[in-house]
Amino acid sequence: MTVQEEIIKLKKEKNAIILAHNYEPPEIQDIADFTGDSLELALRATDVTEDIIIFCGVLFMAETAKILNPKKKVILPAEDAGCLLADQLSAEMIKSAREEYPDAEVVLYVNSTAESKAYADIVCTSANAIDVVKSLKSDTILFGPDSNLASYVQGNLPDKRIIPLPKGGNCPVHEVFTPDDAISSKDRGYTVICHPECPAEVREHCDIIASTGGMMRNAELSDRWAVMTEKDMVYRLRTEYPGKEFLAFEKAVCKDMKKISLNAVLNSLKSETPEINLSRGVMKRAESSIRRMIELSR
Ligand code: 13P
Ligand code: SF4
Repeated sequence: MTVQEEIIKLKKEKNAIILAHNYEPPEIQDIADFTGDSLELALRATDVTEDIIIFCGVLFMAETAKILNPKKKVILPAEDAGCLLADQLSAEMIKSAREEYPDAEVVLYVNSTAESKAYADIVCTSANAIDVVKSLKSDTILFGPDSNLASYVQGNLPDKRIIPLPKGGNCPVHEVFTPDDAISSKDRGYTVICHPECPAEVREHCDIIASTGGMMRNAELSDRWAVMTEKDMVYRLRTEYPGKEFLAFEKAVCKDMKKISLNAVLNSLKSETPEINLSRGVMKRAESSIRRMIELSR
């Protein structure tokens, strides 16, 4: 039996579902029951009926799935699959920023720890960040941890004052892009789509700015795309749109997403570890800020 066949057999026996992010390696996307962006995965996690969720992604995504469906056993096959962006903002930093800006509302990008989310008013993803901020009463918004997404939202909502928290928080995977990547791709006839985590000076040369789910939805619009986000996004795009051309940038690699291997998935199905466990207090408080976003997104 191949590893893939063993996974499928064991998944049925244990009544498990495999959820995967769009940045996962091709062989993981192939065995997943559902692949999507952060928002789609969070929404899918709310209605899982299986007993076990094998979450192929990074820690904050698996934590979100656990918070939204706490009775399920949520397994992250690689214990150390974290997010270099999420690690840049602590709960302490949010508490002291709230003291400094008592009238501000706190919007946290879903790419943050569960502990930080417990101190947010509302969560957002790259797919709904503008709508989330627009929905808030306060004119001053503390927004973290991605300062590039913060500047993207600010550019779209000039009447709000968006304060990035921390000041230069960023995703190192999207920081590798340069304006020339976009300009030279356009010169070669590609339509350029980029993730809002890219720096502002890069975004300004792109045709479309979208979450990874938004990239899937926009793919109809052109036959030749340069895709400025993590390199394995194009595997999903090529699978769904086999007639189109998608240029990947091999330098944009999220090493944490690649920690999930087929063997890691098989082992985690066998042992039902490593399991996501969060304290009740954190779960409860983080849940309300995530649910507030979900209500807006349905
Ligand atoms: P999406 O929500 O667009 O899939 O982004 C997740 C992510 O981690 C981007 O780096
Ligand atoms: Fe985090 Fe960046 Fe990896 Fe996304 S690509 S999971 S933001 S490190």
